[in-house]
Amino acid sequence: MIYLDNAATTFPKPDAVWEAVISCGREKCGNPGRSGHRLAAAAARELFAAREAVAGFFHIADSSRLIFTANATSALNTALYGLLKEGDHVVTSSLEHNSVMRPLHALRQRLGIEFTAVSCSPRGELDPADVQKALRPETRLVVLTHASNVCGAILPVREAKALLPEIPLLVDAAQTAGVLPIDVQELGIDLLAFSGHKGLFGPMGTGGLYTAPGLQLAPLLQGGTGSRSERLEQPAFLPDLLEAGTPNLPGLSGLRAGVEFLAQQGIATIRDHEMRLTRLLLDGLAGHDRIRIHGPADPERQTAVISVTLDGRDPGEIARTLDREFSIACRASLHCAPLAHQTLGTYPQGTVRLSMSVFNTEEEIQEAVRALRAIAEGNL
Ligand SMILES: Cc1ncc(COP(=O)(O)O)c(C=O)c1O
Repeated sequence: MIYLDNAATTFPKPDAVWEAVISCGREKCGNPGRSGHRLAAAAARELFAAREAVAGFFHIADSSRLIFTANATSALNTALYGLLKEGDHVVTSSLEHNSVMRPLHALRQRLGIEFTAVSCSPRGELDPADVQKALRPETRLVVLTHASNVCGAILPVREAKALLPEIPLLVDAAQTAGVLPIDVQELGIDLLAFSGHKGLFGPMGTGGLYTAPGLQLAPLLQGGTGSRSERLEQPAFLPDLLEAGTPNLPGLSGLRAGVEFLAQQGIATIRDHEMRLTRLLLDGLAGHDRIRIHGPADPERQTAVISVTLDGRDPGEIARTLDREFSIACRASLHCAPLAHQTLGTYPQGTVRLSMSVFNTEEEIQEAVRALRAIAEGNL
């Protein structure tokens, strides 16, 4: 199989990830922070090592400010529900995933918050000045995806923050963690939400949220932490404040191995490889009168995520043909981001999304080009 659905979750993962999951499960899986015996202590050390490794990867100085979650959705909900109050206003973009748009919509209905989704161009460009123009006196937060999961467009998060230094910036890094270099200090990120199971190569059921010093979130969940157990209130210190319940320790061991794999390879090397594959795919599809590429169509300005449509063909049917006839796995339709498709002009039918990782090869991309061209020419 040629797997081109890495924006949904990466496959394959490095062997070291699964080895770490198994060895943690076999040897270290007491409940961290809950008991005093040796296995629980080994588990606590394992959890701390994972936290330090992931925090270091994003240049987070104090690892206790990084909490682990089940995925990016859970991290985004923790940030939005934890920060926003009645009457607050939020500025976001028209390329956001439903993991941002649905909580914002629910908070509008429940608490009367308001939000402005600043329009990006049909090629996926966001002008940071438009974010600034959308500000109101009651704006409490700016939420931006670091890169679109539909067309790969990279958003100018650093530039937006530079224009609005006093407003907290929440970055949805589901598509960029492990793909682009992320230094929370350098980019001016106040809250960083990410998936562990995509570019970081961790197992499913892993993700995280960083909150900058000075920002205090109200916890979405209350429960056991193994600390301050005599009190009914959730402990006020991090990570316990935002991390109630037993963590996914084997998954987090795997996530640590994923991050170590990335550090060994080097993000710059991975980015170069993915840019080469992106260029190959874009060049291979360019110039065909029935193939349309949506988004930047420029490897420098996007991640290795490409959305295409073929005139007169349904995206779902194309993806099925790619799977059945060519053994190519990709994703069709709206990719949980309907507003992004309205922006790109591909709503409501959506697109066929091809998304690559460091494990894809040039031969695989050439095969995908041949397959899409054959389908576009009506040969299948
Ligand atoms: C931009 C973006 N945000 C959020 C999410 C949600 O991530 P998760 O599946 O880890 O909850 C995704 C998933 O595809 C995404 O692409």
